[in-house]
Amino acid sequence: MRRGGRIKKIAAILTCAGMAFAAVGCGAGSDEQGNGAETVQTAESEPAETAEEGNVTEEQDATQETEQAVVQNPQEWAWDAEDEETLRCAFAKGFGGRAGVCVPMAALTDAARMEIVKGQFNSVTMENEMKPDTLLGNKPDIGEDGFPVLTFTVPDMMMKEIKAYNDSVEKDGRKLMVRGHVLVWHSQTPEWFFHEEYNVDKPYVDQQTMLARMENYIRQVMEHYEGADSPYQGMIYAWDVVNEAVNDTDGGMRTDSSWFRVFNSSDFVEQAFVYANRYAPAHIKLFYNDYNDTNPKKADGICKLIEQIKANPEARIDGMGMQGHYDMDFSDVLFKQAAKKYAAVVDEIQITELDLKASRGFDGENTEEEYQKQAQVYKSLYDAVKSMKQEGVSITAIVFWGTDDRHSWLQSANAVGGSADGTRVQCPLLFDKDYEKKPAFWAFVDDSKLEPAE
Ligand code: GLA
Repeated sequence: MRRGGRIKKIAAILTCAGMAFAAVGCGAGSDEQGNGAETVQTAESEPAETAEEGNVTEEQDATQETEQAVVQNPQEWAWDAEDEETLRCAFAKGFGGRAGVCVPMAALTDAARMEIVKGQFNSVTMENEMKPDTLLGNKPDIGEDGFPVLTFTVPDMMMKEIKAYNDSVEKDGRKLMVRGHVLVWHSQTPEWFFHEEYNVDKPYVDQQTMLARMENYIRQVMEHYEGADSPYQGMIYAWDVVNEAVNDTDGGMRTDSSWFRVFNSSDFVEQAFVYANRYAPAHIKLFYNDYNDTNPKKADGICKLIEQIKANPEARIDGMGMQGHYDMDFSDVLFKQAAKKYAAVVDEIQITELDLKASRGFDGENTEEEYQKQAQVYKSLYDAVKSMKQEGVSITAIVFWGTDDRHSWLQSANAVGGSADGTRVQCPLLFDKDYEKKPAFWAFVDDSKLEPAE
């Protein structure tokens, strides 16, 4: 990939960050505590139409030349009174990581929701807008080189908004860095991508052709966001390179996947990390991401896969994304066991899609009781994160899969991993349906405010 001097400069600034994320911190005197679907899976499925490109003014366009040279080491961030009682400040101090949230395009026009995003977080994952089905579209648009032309209109509306916001805030700890999600996934990838002549009626392509398509896809994405002319250089700090390639039964490869059907092995996963390494600048951390991540058998299967990736000198994998679609039976013991297994293979762990399905008997009525129980489960998870940090496990972000209960994907039925069945109300997040803070919020920010556990 052609990269100009500017991007090298950004990478240099961010290197300290990367090191800090991987180990304890590069700020002198910092301590371990960190002082300083085939169907779209969302409660609000329509992605782009709601926001207008006109949202972005010419002045904002003019600022695109500004570099996003954000200091990435949470221990170096300065905070003031405004940051007290925020997740981003609590996380920087509690375990030295980012506070993230998943945001769909529709949220951009919901001022109250954006207040939560900008007021609490410093990492954003787009719910659907960077997925292959958005970039590739329903129908193939094939360029002269024979590869699909990617369309970035939808994610870029979000990137522009995020960039404009970032340019307006001074403190690095308040800037919203982006987790790229996702490059290679069996779901939400158009089926035509896998077939000869991009035609679903034709057979699958051979492996070499598929590898060429994969490489081209990853190269286009990286050049778009990190190329010398990109206004978005430095905004993305991590990419989920491969999502959900391991099955839930025995930890072997998922077979209900067109990626798997073409390759009939785990080679495509390894190769995705070769290409991501080839085209991504060093400051972007490369992740494998999966759900059911505390299941011991699946964790072993995932470790086998990520060890395979690590063993390839042309590949790079920096982290394991534990999606964290948990429920009220969450076990901090299993969570720690799994996280430690992953941390023995890769440098860092992130919880990338955290939410909690409600107790089995919850009927949506006795919310206070459920909220208290839920807060205790979240507290046990957060205590585990902080204690593992003490033990040297590098956890660099906790990302919630949504701002508030009203907009959670768990409110509707879904067949994919970690989902809910749509039969009852869910209350999975830290803010309720009216955007008010729940006890679960305090489990992370100030647990002295919680009622004592029963
Ligand atoms: C998986 C994916 C996410 C999202 C959720 C459901 O976990 O990784 O992108 O689709 O399912 O919303």
